[in-house]
Amino acid sequence: MIINKTSILFVCLGNICRSPAAESIMNDVVEKQQREREFIIDSCGIGAWHMGQKSDRRMIEAGEKRGYSFLHRARQIKKEDLLRFDYIIGMDDENISDILSLSNDEKQRRKVYKMASFLRNYPSQKTIPDPYYGGKEDFEFVLDLLEDAVLGLIDFIDKNKK
Ligand code: 4NP
Repeated sequence: MIINKTSILFVCLGNICRSPAAESIMNDVVEKQQREREFIIDSCGIGAWHMGQKSDRRMIEAGEKRGYSFLHRARQIKKEDLLRFDYIIGMDDENISDILSLSNDEKQRRKVYKMASFLRNYPSQKTIPDPYYGGKEDFEFVLDLLEDAVLGLIDFIDKNKK
């Protein structure tokens, strides 16, 4: 059977905390659902400061405790990503406006979503907050949010296909 893959790009500021965690969680969920062949999952950052680096040690530690694997190396978003990917998902409003500033046309702009819009158990949460200058509990909270939003996202994609 030929499967048309859905490609998803998670975007945050540095690509070392939130977006690689979203990528790891989504990889884990689709693996458990045995749907790996249906998706291409990647992440990137708005900024170039951490290019080539592993994810933030604090995020790796918190995520690995929950069973997620962090293999990603940070990279910066490029205009071509808006062509290549089906869903481009930013973590906060600043990410969204930075992504949109790279877009060429309405077709590309329609691919851009805010991760918090897929939350189901945190109705008042409007963003996935940057944990970089925060403590352990901020990293845990980001993982809680991302676990919820990834399930909402997969549901949205499935409904969009029908
Ligand atoms: P992220 O977190 O956007 O979730 O990867 C950050 C990582 C690094 C920086 C800011 C946010 N920084 O300023 O270097």
